[in-house]
Amino acid sequence: MALYSEKVMDHFTNPRNVGKIEDADGVGEVGNAKCGDIMKIYLKIENDIIVDVKFNTFGCGSAIASSSMATELIKGKPISEALELTNKAVAEALDGLPAHKMHCSVLAEEAIRAAIKDYYDKNGIAYDKADFPDPHDEEDEHFTEED
Ligand code: FES
Repeated sequence: MALYSEKVMDHFTNPRNVGKIEDADGVGEVGNAKCGDIMKIYLKIENDIIVDVKFNTFGCGSAIASSSMATELIKGKPISEALELTNKAVAEALDGLPAHKMHCSVLAEEAIRAAIKDYYDKNGIAYDKADFPDPHDEEDEHFTEED
């Protein structure tokens, strides 16, 4: 089997929703300290629905494919569904990522969460802090295989 699925290659070479939303309602930026890759997600939200989403990823191919797929998965969806999107679901939608590239999909989950938190903060909307754990508490294990 090829290292990367056709879907990964497709979303890497032809990423969906690339760019910036100037009047975004929420912006989330996260990075991976080990590889130095950075992902930024912009959300446009109306009546709790993510009506538009764009991303800028300065990172590896798997991170770009993950951002592209993640934006497709949450576009048009309620915030509650976007909050439930896990990196595993992103990787599965891409027909898998190599084990040492799973951390790239974590960036997508974290960036979406950070953008929703930003939206809540900007609008004074109360939220359960448990829904927004510090990502680096639990994801360190994903970094150990990096060189
Ligand atoms: Fe850093 Fe993929 S996100 S190597």
